[in-house]
Amino acid sequence: MLVTRLRLRDFRTYAVADVELGPRITVVHGHNGAGKTNLLEALYLGCTGRSCRTTNERELVRFGAQVTRVELDVTDDDGPHALSVGLEPGVRKEVRVDGIAVPRLIDVPGRPLVRARAIQEVRLLDLSLKGARIEHLDLLHPGVACHLELPPALGSLVLSAQVVWCTIVGRKPSPGGDRRLLSRTGLRFTKLTTTQQTVLAGTLRELAAGRVPA
Ligand SMILES: Nc1ncnc2c1ncn2[C@@H]1O[C@H](COP(=O)(O)OP(=O)(O)O)[C@@H](O)[C@H]1O
Ligand SMILES: [Mg+2]
Repeated sequence: MLVTRLRLRDFRTYAVADVELGPRITVVHGHNGAGKTNLLEALYLGCTGRSCRTTNERELVRFGAQVTRVELDVTDDDGPHALSVGLEPGVRKEVRVDGIAVPRLIDVPGRPLVRARAIQEVRLLDLSLKGARIEHLDLLHPGVACHLELPPALGSLVLSAQVVWCTIVGRKPSPGGDRRLLSRTGLRFTKLTTTQQTVLAGTLRELAAGRVPA
């Protein structure tokens, strides 16, 4: 199944948008804060009925608006279909496939399969064999799976992890100019290979001996 067109109404930065997607890869470019991630989030919402970033639906509606709406044109083996998600946070959510209301898009056979990956720069506060403490912009939800990529000085490991807790510690201006939440998160490593454990143990020994740049 392929998404061919995306229409938005009052979704985050977008009052209205109508985007045609190419038959192969679509590249979106623009300066910081232009709305690239917002567009991706809208696409995810249209495919799944949920945000890939937050469980707070209020964040999806454009400032000053009450309702948001995402519509997708998709084509499947059996022809074109229309998916839509209308959202009034705390009041109602309406998901439709070809105009017919459905309880959840996740259960609809043949809905577009999507996977969202966001890369975020973080400050490493603490590292152990079990997990890490990091500081970063925005919130991460407990239970979310992620990867922590350590810089070359710390062994260049890419460690799979799970968010255990996340707490707001302040606010910080973002490159886009708005003030964003500054959070601290506790990660627990999951499924580390024996090699990763050995390299990590070596890195920790170097850190303890003060031989790695902080
Ligand atoms: N609910 C909202 N209403 C209007 N603007 C929003 C809303 N939420 C976020 N924004 C704006 O979206 C912009 C960030 O867009 P984003 O898609 O993350 O940019 P980028 O192109 O860098 O990925 C910021 O300027 C932020 O103020
Ligand atoms: Mg972005």
